[in-house]
Amino acid sequence: MLVDGFGRELTEIRVSLTDRCNFDCVYCHNEGLGDTRGPMAPRDEEMTTDEVVRVLSVAADLDVQAVKLTGGEPMLREDLEEIVRRAPEGMEVSLTTNGSFLPDRAEGLVEAGLERVNVSQDAVDPEAFAEITQSGAYDRVIEGVDAALEAGLDPVKLNMVVFEGTAEYIPEMVDRVAEREGLRLQLIEYMPEIAGHPEWAIDIERVHEWLAERADRVETRDMHDRKRYFVAGDEGEGMVEVVDPVENEMFCDNCHRVRVTHDGSLKGCLNRPRVHPMGELTEAEIRAAFHEVVADRVPYYGEFMIEEDGEWVRNDEYVGEQLVVEGPSLT
Ligand code: 5AD
Ligand code: SF4
Repeated sequence: MLVDGFGRELTEIRVSLTDRCNFDCVYCHNEGLGDTRGPMAPRDEEMTTDEVVRVLSVAADLDVQAVKLTGGEPMLREDLEEIVRRAPEGMEVSLTTNGSFLPDRAEGLVEAGLERVNVSQDAVDPEAFAEITQSGAYDRVIEGVDAALEAGLDPVKLNMVVFEGTAEYIPEMVDRVAEREGLRLQLIEYMPEIAGHPEWAIDIERVHEWLAERADRVETRDMHDRKRYFVAGDEGEGMVEVVDPVENEMFCDNCHRVRVTHDGSLKGCLNRPRVHPMGELTEAEIRAAFHEVVADRVPYYGEFMIEEDGEWVRNDEYVGEQLVVEGPSLT
């Protein structure tokens, strides 16, 4: 088991299979790479199937228990099912997707061993959806969510990024998970660092307050004070969680993952540009890179860092509130 200098164990990796995407969400941080997207055709720099499988196998040897496959849009890769099938025995495999390809592939992915899925959905309205994602695939996404539920993935988590452009749709998204068994909602505080537009951020505390009033039951998990709101009776259905990296001081404390970029480097933190190349992706190089990246991990939020003369230093002038502006009313 690898442990960083802050006592955080490495239990999970997030692997970006491509940075291509058929959507262009206005808020997208592209896994910390920013707006680097090129053409939609497969790119040489992407890890091959064998390379991805090798990274997963080394990770499993180092006691990493779960992998989340992501992108860009990971379903643009034809070999996704094969990667899922060849993931190490005992490693939990989940997927984060925009959902537009799920109608045809959800069943095959479950057969290959996929255990969980997160689908990005920010609105229950085709026009709003189109504006946010710059795509007309709303119906496909809704079908994709249904296909995932029918294929037996339970729960299916809907990811909704909370910012000025989506806050007004929170109530209808909450109703959607209340009405449809098997769905959960994950409200993700907008992270402006890489996506830009700090003025789009809204005060996530208001979302917590609104949810507390709307929910039938609220559960506070462990010492990190993470809240779960149940909005469909108090039996545990209709769960809404708030992921609030910027506001929650304990957020980075709770981070046990490193990220693998589509071109085969390790990143210790979403918001830091520093990468650890894994070389030709031999087992030895991958293993060395894991040790290096974990040794190098430093929490990000709570002590927001800036670059000064080529070094990452704590920004003493940063206070979280600087990023928070008034958003539209939630009611
Ligand atoms: N802030 C917060 N969450 C984001 N996502 C993408 N960009 C941002 C951002 N700037 C989320 C989306 C997507 C997941 C991979 O990351 O919800 O589902
Ligand atoms: Fe980014 Fe995901 Fe939207 Fe694609 S679907 S643009 S990867 S947030």
